[in-house]
Amino acid sequence: MNNLKQLIKKKTPVWFMRQAGRYLPEYRKIRKKEKNFLDLCFNSNLAAEISLQPIKRFNFDFIILFSDILVVPHALGQKVEFKESVGPILKKIKSTNNLTFESLQLCLEKLTPVMETIKILKREKQDKQLIGFCGGPFTVLTYMLEGGTSKKHNQTKKKILQDRNDFKNLLDLVTEFSIIYLEKQIYSGVDIVKVFESWAGLLDEEDYNEFIIEPNKRIKEAIKKSFPTIPIIFFPRQSTGKIHSFIHKVKPDVLSLDKDINEEVMETAKKNNIILQGNLDPLILYKGGKELEDEVKKIMLQFSNNEHIFNLSHGIMPLTPIDNVKKTLEIIKNFNETK
Ligand code: CP3
Repeated sequence: MNNLKQLIKKKTPVWFMRQAGRYLPEYRKIRKKEKNFLDLCFNSNLAAEISLQPIKRFNFDFIILFSDILVVPHALGQKVEFKESVGPILKKIKSTNNLTFESLQLCLEKLTPVMETIKILKREKQDKQLIGFCGGPFTVLTYMLEGGTSKKHNQTKKKILQDRNDFKNLLDLVTEFSIIYLEKQIYSGVDIVKVFESWAGLLDEEDYNEFIIEPNKRIKEAIKKSFPTIPIIFFPRQSTGKIHSFIHKVKPDVLSLDKDINEEVMETAKKNNIILQGNLDPLILYKGGKELEDEVKKIMLQFSNNEHIFNLSHGIMPLTPIDNVKKTLEIIKNFNETK
């Protein structure tokens, strides 16, 4: 925790979700080398090079490992593909019986290339802190049940209604695997880990407690037990009113915020020694202009009484102009110089 806290004391550090990706021409060039996106994630040399692209171009303060949350279903034996302009396509599962692996340790071995990427980055990261990650168990499970990105999440809702016990078994399995996966990333050299629970907003309070808070808390406690000094960032996207109970029960080191924030969250974070990360709307970053300038300044002022890492409220949009990213970093730099 200390390295991160010290950095934040000196300045408001900054990185962007999906900072390595399609808005960068150098990424698009490498992307062509592998047809299937997962093959790119498992090509350790290329994945390391891609992770460093945004650092070389913009000098962001953190490197995020280039990979995807859907390597977990792949490791558990589910077929995962990425189709251009469609997104991820998974061979749907309906129950625990559809997963036929021998042991979680053997599944983890399939992710050795990710560990190799981390080892390369560890050698090349210089003074930057390296962020590893996994999806939140519920979020990953929705992709496994829906077979891809879904608006209505009917299969997930149906499974919870019709077979709650097996849903919980699946969720336990993904949680347990996520823990050993994050631990292995830390052994391999990441300095910080982040849990992307992008679909947390789907659930009502009772299910939210059981399917969002409990698994995230299990991850937090397990990682803290093995690695007490490694900071953990949680991103329970669209939790709105339920965010308070998430904060009190999971006790994140860093809370990554979506667009929806309020004074109370900021106060609670301050009282509980929680770093806040966020929360520029990627749409405003894409649009640029005076609106962007005003918004970046507003965010810097708004968070000035909190420990703060500047970031977006969700991933950067592929058509975002590079100049808008530059402009944003300049404004943050100017603020930091007067800190
Ligand atoms: O933040 C980073 O830069 C690290 C790398 C990273 C990617 N995906 C790279 C990626 C991370 C942390 C993710 C997380 C991820 N992946 C999430 C959680 C965060 C979120 O966005 O809500 C989810 C839900 C996924 C699943 C996923 N991966 C989808 C739905 C898609 C297709 C949609 C899209 O934006 O294209 C992906 C593909 C993906 N993951 C790309 C990248 C750079 C684009 C693939 C390409 O280049 O063709």
